[in-house]
Amino acid sequence: MNILGISCFFHDAGAALLQDGVLTAAAEEERFSRKKHDYGFPQHAIDFCLRTGKIRGQDVDLVVFFEKPFLKFDRILRSAMSTFPWSRGVFSESMITWMTEKLWIKDQIRHKLGVDESKIFFSDHHLSHAASAFFCSPFDEAAILTVDGVGEWATATYGIGRGSDIRMLREIRFPHSLGLLYSAFTAFLGFEVNEGEYKVMGMAPFGQPRYVDKVWKLVNQESDGSFQLNMEYFTFHHSTHQTFGPKFVELFGPARDPEAHFFTTSSGYPSYFGAKPAGYDALARQNQHYADVAASIQRVTEEMLLKMASHLHRETGLKRLCLAGGVALNSVANGRILRETPFEELFIQPAAGDGGGALGAALVGCHMVLGKPRDFVMRHAYWGQEFGAGDVDTFVRSNNIAHTRFENDDQLLARVVDHLQAGKVVGWFQGRFELGPRALGNRSIIADPRNTSMKDIVNTKIKFREPFRPFAPSVLVERAGEFFDLPEAHRHHPARYMLYVVDVKDGQGERIPAVTHVDGTARLQTVDAESAPRYRRLIHTFGQATGVPVLLNTSFNLRGEPIVNTPGEAFSTFSRSGMDVLVMGQHVVEK
Ligand SMILES: [Fe+2]
Repeated sequence: MNILGISCFFHDAGAALLQDGVLTAAAEEERFSRKKHDYGFPQHAIDFCLRTGKIRGQDVDLVVFFEKPFLKFDRILRSAMSTFPWSRGVFSESMITWMTEKLWIKDQIRHKLGVDESKIFFSDHHLSHAASAFFCSPFDEAAILTVDGVGEWATATYGIGRGSDIRMLREIRFPHSLGLLYSAFTAFLGFEVNEGEYKVMGMAPFGQPRYVDKVWKLVNQESDGSFQLNMEYFTFHHSTHQTFGPKFVELFGPARDPEAHFFTTSSGYPSYFGAKPAGYDALARQNQHYADVAASIQRVTEEMLLKMASHLHRETGLKRLCLAGGVALNSVANGRILRETPFEELFIQPAAGDGGGALGAALVGCHMVLGKPRDFVMRHAYWGQEFGAGDVDTFVRSNNIAHTRFENDDQLLARVVDHLQAGKVVGWFQGRFELGPRALGNRSIIADPRNTSMKDIVNTKIKFREPFRPFAPSVLVERAGEFFDLPEAHRHHPARYMLYVVDVKDGQGERIPAVTHVDGTARLQTVDAESAPRYRRLIHTFGQATGVPVLLNTSFNLRGEPIVNTPGEAFSTFSRSGMDVLVMGQHVVEK
């Protein structure tokens, strides 16, 4: 039984293939098309899934699309009509794209896959998110919370999962959206919506939440967690290019210039920004205001999610919670939900955004359409394309790339650890690439976290990221408790996917300064032998040499590019950056 899930035409396009109820392959289209957040029809991702499952389009028994296009179109038309004439732009733009492409998704799937119309099913956007969390979790029964920008009408849902069924309890509807509230601030702070939300979260610890009261003017939350936005402040419901309006600017001042560097007195001014600008002190003070705004929206988001989760706990009485939807990538809020609500265990879909909606849609098809029992737990995120030793060998030989091929993996790991201890930055490429936005040791750039200047080194050589963005630690799961405030780390699935921000323990921040954020926290990845055996051995070898079984792990890409997929992309990224060493499976390339 082959079930293909598809998501596209909104944020991140993706595809996922279930075979006899078990996940075979899942990937986002951007990794193949090399267009970041590609939302077009995911032809490459679908082809990859079919290839991996050794089937053709005609062999697919059921295709499930992650949302209902007609309901979504209905929402867009109705909101455009209710805000006419301001919505003139949205109206004409959406008529063109919907009439020419999006509404005919069924025909596209039929033609491109060669499947009969009767085999195509449409899930519901938030049901797909809910399924991507609950049906991937190890839980028989759990409360489910989904929160994102918007689906058809829903922007957040409460639900319950039991066995192979999900029951939705309640939804919050557009235009009242926590995801769109956060995105309005993302845009205000000078970052790209649906991309810069991490930057807002990273910027927040540099500020004080002194504008929390002002943020609460924009949104009102009830005791049951439901909320309404005060639409006087927003324009996203009738504009294609602007999310906040003049009243918003009256409240928080002018928006930050997207072209200007962000730095405060505490972030410092990194060398890769160039020479310090004239009026440095005044600029740092001005930026402090924006950091305070970031801290304030982050704080309100956390409070809102805590209230929603707490209510869901009261209503269901369940001990476990599943989370999905783009807002579930807010790992600071996730850490607080674990610590501050009565839920004892969480499962969060690592591809919590719309790319993971494809996986959720396939699972809806399997369990809720076909009624099959559950036989799958998602224990890792490595569902993308793999390149074997043969592929890498062909690539390095045909391109005359000087390399060493290690037959003995212990020798290779020892060599890499020597490089890391010498302050080198290493591209680490192996196995199948990760599903979701995080690199978890198969398409990663790694470095020594003990080195105080390593953050600047990685930024100067490769990432050119803003100085307020932290790098994450990968730690052996059994040693996580020594460094981080996460008791019984092995019980916490979300930590495998860098989905919790927790405190670094007192005194341990000095041991791993390059991965400790300014507020003494870290977005850790726990690494275990079952889900990531070779990456684990690398960290273990580094731990034996240094006493610190932790690596700095950041995604294998240059700024603004999708994470690499092929050996060719890895080598190109290595060549165009200041990376010192590239490991591709058993092959090591040194600059
Ligand atoms: Fe979504």
